[in-house]
Amino acid sequence: MAQFSPIPQAVEFVRLFWFSSAMTLDIETRDQLIETVRRFVRERLVPLEAQVSEDDAVPLDVIDEMRGLGLFGISIPTEYGGLGLTMEEEVLVCLELGNTSPAFRSVIGTTVGIGSQGIVMFGNAAQKTEHLPKLASGEAISSFCLTEPDAGSDAASLKTTAILDGDEYVVNGTKRFITNAANATLFTLLARTDPGTPGSKGISAFVVPADTPGITLGASEKKMGQQGAHICDVAFDDARIPAFCLLGEEGQGFKVAMQVLDRGRIHISAVCTGVAERLIRESVGYARERKQFGEAIGEFQLIQAMIADSQTEYLAAKALVLETARRMDEGHKISMEASCCKLYASEMVGRVADRAVQIFGGAGYVADYGIERFYRDVRIFRLYEGTSQIQQLVIAKNLLRNLET
Ligand code: CAA
Repeated sequence: MAQFSPIPQAVEFVRLFWFSSAMTLDIETRDQLIETVRRFVRERLVPLEAQVSEDDAVPLDVIDEMRGLGLFGISIPTEYGGLGLTMEEEVLVCLELGNTSPAFRSVIGTTVGIGSQGIVMFGNAAQKTEHLPKLASGEAISSFCLTEPDAGSDAASLKTTAILDGDEYVVNGTKRFITNAANATLFTLLARTDPGTPGSKGISAFVVPADTPGITLGASEKKMGQQGAHICDVAFDDARIPAFCLLGEEGQGFKVAMQVLDRGRIHISAVCTGVAERLIRESVGYARERKQFGEAIGEFQLIQAMIADSQTEYLAAKALVLETARRMDEGHKISMEASCCKLYASEMVGRVADRAVQIFGGAGYVADYGIERFYRDVRIFRLYEGTSQIQQLVIAKNLLRNLET
């Protein structure tokens, strides 16, 4: 397989950006970044999709190329060696990354998003200086340990404890379905520091080195889709972590988790939207070529209706996600809007994938065409980082509490 040719130029471009003093990208630089990611996705990643699914692993040289492109650092501020993209710029990158198997995005996903953003938003100077440069370069990988066997949607009921003992916290409990845990060097951990206080108030957030004695990983789960991305349990058994690992203040952890998820939900929504764009391209290409009843199936109005519905919903999701990202960049509180994005974009890509299978007909059900793989891959989007039903709760609660009528 030929190497992705523009990588040296891309790396040079990233370095130029790193050493420029600009805090935001000018339009031309932004467009170059997006074009670089687009070419990397289409020329380098798309040809590897079937192999990654078959091997259940993303090749290490591809991960190195992602490091070289600065992709691990897109959301890390420039003063810590990242690209410091705005949310809108991150969305534009994710729209491109969505144009291939989501397993590739998952390589950087937790480090760029839920694994690192607790440190970016709530970390003190020492925590930022220690961790962010390594995360930005891809030398360190972070994962987000919130979910537990008995605390999924009801995150505030988590049972893992972190009890202060001298100048250390002693952590006990099990975290479940933790994306990228097997590669992680660092965990953002949510644990109960005050077991006497039930619900969200007794929870604190920590940044925990993955090699802390007492931490063990479970076996990688067999999943419906996204082969190449891995999830497993993370067990804490009297794991002692220094008190300075606390993120923010004791008892603030639930808000840390929710704010990290607000941002993560915009990121995931952009990925969903990118996948929809890819599936529409595949559907249109097939509808042009496939002949039945003596003509291309794209000539039939019932096929056209499916393509038109998918395109309309894709554009609606794109507009919603970009607008929400812009509002976040302007400093607005976007919890409700982020949930609208996640609800709409994840459900939308499910419908688009279903129509793609329908347009491909029998070929859509056969592995060689890759459409059934996307159909399985996108199912998780309606589940992780908050199910569609949790997004509905967040949206309705916010409106009922805050909307002026
Ligand atoms: N930002 C800041 N604070 C927030 C907030 C937000 N977005 N959302 C809630 N809070 C605060 C509230 O203001 C409240 O604070 P006060 O008590 O001071 O008023 C507190 O947090 C509790 O809020 P709620 O009463 O609304 O909490 P709740 O228990 O009723 O439920 C929930 C909240 C929305 C259902 C929440 O539990 C939730 O989002 N659940 C889904 C969890 C989730 O997304 N899990 C996925 C894990 S990540 C993952 O998928 C794994 C992976 O590796 C990919």
